[in-house]
Amino acid sequence: MNDVRSDLYPPPQALRDAAHISGMAAYEKLVAEAEAGPSAYWARLAREFLSWKTPFTRSLDDSNAPFFKWFEDGTLNVSYNCLDRQVERGLGDKVAIVFEADDGRVTRVTYRELLARTCRVANALNARGVKKGDRVVIYMSMSVEGVVAMQACARIGATHSVVFGGFSAHSLRDRIEGAGAVMVMTADEQVRGGKHLPLKAVVDEAIALGGCESVKNVIVYRRTGSKVAWEPTRDHWLHDEMGAQSERCEPEWVGAEHPLFLLYTSGSTGKPKGVQHSTGGFLLHAALTTLWTFDLKPDDVFWCTADIGWVTGHTYIAYGPLALGATEVVFEGVPTYPDAGRFWKMIQDHKVSVFYTAPTAIRALIKAAEADPAVHPDRYDLSSLRILGSVGEPINPAAWEWYHRHIGGGRCPVVDTFWQTETGGHMITPLPGATPLVPGSCTLPFPGIAAAIVDESGNDVPDGHGGLLVIKKPWPSMIRTIWGEPDRYRSSYYPPELKGYYLAGDGAIRDAKTGYFTITGRVDDVLNVSGHRMGTMEIESALVSCTALVAEAAVVGRPDETTGEAVCAFVVLKGARPTGDEAKRIANELRNWVAKEIGPIAKPKDIRFGDNLPKTRSGKIVRRLLRSIARGEAITQDISTLENPAILDQLSERN
Ligand code: WTA
Repeated sequence: MNDVRSDLYPPPQALRDAAHISGMAAYEKLVAEAEAGPSAYWARLAREFLSWKTPFTRSLDDSNAPFFKWFEDGTLNVSYNCLDRQVERGLGDKVAIVFEADDGRVTRVTYRELLARTCRVANALNARGVKKGDRVVIYMSMSVEGVVAMQACARIGATHSVVFGGFSAHSLRDRIEGAGAVMVMTADEQVRGGKHLPLKAVVDEAIALGGCESVKNVIVYRRTGSKVAWEPTRDHWLHDEMGAQSERCEPEWVGAEHPLFLLYTSGSTGKPKGVQHSTGGFLLHAALTTLWTFDLKPDDVFWCTADIGWVTGHTYIAYGPLALGATEVVFEGVPTYPDAGRFWKMIQDHKVSVFYTAPTAIRALIKAAEADPAVHPDRYDLSSLRILGSVGEPINPAAWEWYHRHIGGGRCPVVDTFWQTETGGHMITPLPGATPLVPGSCTLPFPGIAAAIVDESGNDVPDGHGGLLVIKKPWPSMIRTIWGEPDRYRSSYYPPELKGYYLAGDGAIRDAKTGYFTITGRVDDVLNVSGHRMGTMEIESALVSCTALVAEAAVVGRPDETTGEAVCAFVVLKGARPTGDEAKRIANELRNWVAKEIGPIAKPKDIRFGDNLPKTRSGKIVRRLLRSIARGEAITQDISTLENPAILDQLSERN
């Protein structure tokens, strides 16, 4: 098999020799073990990687597919596995988190300290009546406190639902209501790029919108000390709450299937879905993928630049590295402040050895480096780096090559990791000591992941032909259900025509020679803007909820050089179609409206106004035509079924 692979970037010999998974033969051995008996394979790893209070006796339970269960009769605690276990292994004085604030201030927290802080917060939650199974919404920015909040929930068996700090009060309200949260943990403000942005005030606004009656308490971390409104019976400072508590807290031992967290993410229809993850299966894959995909060693310094508000920040900041006793960097700020050399300076200062970021950041920093030699990575000492990772969206080969050359000095493998909120961890990814790399390809399935490409009836497509990416067999860290919507879980991920395979929602193609996968993008109405996942429907709903102005709206994506995709909205106003400055003014007003409804990340880049939208005779909006217009392509599709073909010319005009 080896001879047919493209050996464009084989693993460096020294790295390969010392790797956890060394060479393709080792990879293939694991794949064969998993194929021969998936249930036994995952059980072996679950015993090896996790500490169980009560060992499990059954691995996979598929009796109620697609509601799969793993290791169900075992009990464990995630926070015990991440913290106590490290202290017991003698790693108490090892630095767990190197925190760098927006202004450059650095604090180091050891495993012993992280455990003590987690216990205090866990006791504080208990004291406020939060119990096993209760939901806690965490609306915080990047901070040690954010990670501690997640670990503390895990410690007492509360299910957390982290909401990205860039989401608006409306989005936060929907997520609090959806989860039925009893508590919200937040901060007075967040600090990003030198700016203070409100968090507590947004929580107040969300609760005031109504529907959040389940929330009994709001715990507030004092980040900036700015004045915030206070509801004395409901709001409590985190430091006051912790101050009264002991540094010890007996972990709540929960069943492996106990929901560790919910994380709301966008789908192609309706409101965001509360993806529910388990305790045992999730933690196994978090630990295993952190170890194998990044070939993590005890003295590595790992840095994942994601936010804890997204799944990457869950698996590869809050849980995976800590479950392995690693040292990780947690960064509060943004890559361009005080200048676009920030990431490179931080790698240099903290001697980061494994760096994991998103293609959008890489593309933006390439532009910045080309414009200003002072922030070019070549000016920094990046020799500590061993391995580079990419996540969240396809990485174009040019950005891959630049990352490899200028950040990795040509010696660090780039692992292009494909996965999703629903999958809990990496699905298709190179392993740095084994897989020869091809820029632009996420290469091969992680050992045990039965990835395949099928047609719309679930039949395998031949290599070299595009199709739907599916995962044919269940795996431990898979989504368990959509919170409160089991039917939606089944219909979204296990449509009947796909023979019981998990439908990822992405298109993919496999190379006939190498067997390598390349992801071709979403096949549904989900957009990926700067690695942030959004549904076109959500943005449309936000636009049409501006009832004073908007009669109708349709949203599509178009490729964008920096952000990967950009949001493009076609809007029919209630009044006349605006032009010139008037169009600009209303477009701005609508952008701000969307920011208020969802969050600034959802703001449409382009807004075009029309007297109507292209529709069929039965009144259906023809989005594929809008997609062509958004891309500035000539329309070659058949438009004979269109009710109003003349509208295409109008929408194609720049206004
Ligand atoms: C996309 C982020 C190509 C894909 C971890 C997927 C990728 C969606 C890659 C999930 C990659 C993620 N190459 N596309 N390496 N990684 N995607 O849920 O479309 O925020 O379905 O999870 O991002 O986004 P999510």
